[in-house]
Amino acid sequence: MTGKPRVWISRPTFPDVVARLEPHFVVAAEPEETVFTAAGLAAKLAACDAAIVGLKERIGAQEIAAAARLRIIANLAVGFDNLDLPALTAAGILASNTADVLNESVADYAWALLLGSARRMGAAERWLRAGHWHGTGFKAWLGLDTRGRTLGILGMGRIGQAIARRAAGFGMQVVYHNRSALPRTIEDECAARYVDKPALLAQSDFLVLALPLSDESRHAIGAAELARMKPTAVLVNIARGGIVDDAALAAALAGGRLAAAALDVFEGEPDVHPALRELDNVILSPHIASATWDTRRAMTAMAVDNVLALFGHGPHAGRPPSLLNPEALATRPAPWIPQDKGIEHP
Ligand code: GLV
Repeated sequence: MTGKPRVWISRPTFPDVVARLEPHFVVAAEPEETVFTAAGLAAKLAACDAAIVGLKERIGAQEIAAAARLRIIANLAVGFDNLDLPALTAAGILASNTADVLNESVADYAWALLLGSARRMGAAERWLRAGHWHGTGFKAWLGLDTRGRTLGILGMGRIGQAIARRAAGFGMQVVYHNRSALPRTIEDECAARYVDKPALLAQSDFLVLALPLSDESRHAIGAAELARMKPTAVLVNIARGGIVDDAALAAALAGGRLAAAALDVFEGEPDVHPALRELDNVILSPHIASATWDTRRAMTAMAVDNVLALFGHGPHAGRPPSLLNPEALATRPAPWIPQDKGIEHP
């Protein structure tokens, strides 16, 4: 192929950030948020050399079947359960994510949800807006303190660690469970102690989920796990829908078997389980934990860097910074060629 390679961007991002692609690529960015059918997605992917996509683009063997030119899918998210990595690797298509740049914003939001549900902010605001506030009740809207309580974290990657580091400011002790215990230096820095999952469920006054969705983690919190938690506990999910069994959670909240929950992610989102919508002791949030100006710009920049680098340009030329399946390079080598040959693209 001669001429500039093509980049397709599935959703509106930040024009000044993606402008860095323009000297090297023909860029086609969707002007508005669009829900693509599998066939629509397949057609878009067949017509580009690189794609920058979001979580709502679910990409597997069917969507890449005709994507002969496609070399990289840069996911605008740290999670990548929307991508069938084995299928991409088999086709020699690289995938990248936005690791690390969103850790602090997501950790902040986990705390916003935790505190918001501890202090019943959603329900109190709905009550005020509905015109019920005619005088302040001394015992009205009593919530939970964090001080002296135990924060449990399930999934202690970089986001879990950022959540843990904030706990000292709230006077909380931290326990965590992870596939494996972290090195002692990280545990010390986070002031967090490894426990097994039953102990995590039993000890947590606030349990925050920060693990990726996988076959192993699907319904990691279901009826049995909820039954092991304290009835006074609060559950926060900033990880992925599907990690919590939403129907079981709604039943536990309705039955007083759990005090409250705050959810940024849902099974089958943007649909939300109807039983959750009925409850006042759950905060429902539309998957926005990383949604700050700075972080969404940084995520876009990282996707751009991954694409640029694969084609031999930009600050990471030749070394895409966050590849998920570098082994795909063994199936098809990288498309860049030495600059001194004077050819832009093979
Ligand atoms: C958001 O959910 C992400 O994975 O970045």
